[in-house]
Amino acid sequence: MNQYDKAAEAVAYIRTRTSLVPSVAIILGSGLGSFAQQIATDAVIPYAEIPHFPHSTVVGHSGNLILGTIGGVSVVALQGRAHAYEGHPMESVTFATRVAKLLGAGTLVVTNAAGGINTGYRQGALVAIADHINLTGTNAALGPNDARFGDRFFDMSNAYSPRLRELAVAEAARLGYELNSGVYLAVLGPSFETPAEIRAFRTLGADLVGMSTVHEVIVARHMGMEVLGISLVTNMAAGVLDEAINHSEVLDIGRQVEGQFTALLTAVIPKI
Ligand code: HPA
Repeated sequence: MNQYDKAAEAVAYIRTRTSLVPSVAIILGSGLGSFAQQIATDAVIPYAEIPHFPHSTVVGHSGNLILGTIGGVSVVALQGRAHAYEGHPMESVTFATRVAKLLGAGTLVVTNAAGGINTGYRQGALVAIADHINLTGTNAALGPNDARFGDRFFDMSNAYSPRLRELAVAEAARLGYELNSGVYLAVLGPSFETPAEIRAFRTLGADLVGMSTVHEVIVARHMGMEVLGISLVTNMAAGVLDEAINHSEVLDIGRQVEGQFTALLTAVIPKI
């Protein structure tokens, strides 16, 4: 069965649980899953119950699809994502994004934990993604094109909507802080980078490094969705500070910045 038909089956199942049609899809990154508490919930569906839906094995990713509303806007939140470094094929990494679009979402808000390459950033900072560099060695739209999703070749200039980024920057300012913008560079992982890699990535123009997001954004653009990306700098990237990087720190910082992150998305989503 092809990805479109699998996604359609997943959508048909989700429709048996709720009639809510989401206009915005939100993918919640490592340590950021508790944002889902802001949703006036219509349905919480464990990924395991949805046909063809991949599950994440990573601690800190819970694995629920949540449908409901935030400030009157209908949303679908994806609490937990499948990463390529877990061994998932691209089709699984992008499956939730495909399903979100087929459910009706025209906008994708994608969030992640990232390492800070830009030395102007601090641990705990939120950064709006302005653009990305895909160094994962693969592409989510690889393989035969399904025209029901989109065209074979598609534009990636302004993949991260300037309009939505400006909205996020304005809402952050209203909340009392400056939201920086930066370029997100994606690696496959799961090893964190070496200091030499981080120096190289800085030379390439990257401000942030992480192991997710770019594939979801590629398929979102394939399907014509408007994208807002927000990174949480959970740590400074390898070699920036004289200390090791660990995943529990990634989750701890997520918990510390949860309030600020939640406030930003709660302010932005009703204005999308
Ligand atoms: N590198 C890659 N991915 C990450 C990092 C990092 O330093 N921090 C959080 N996700």
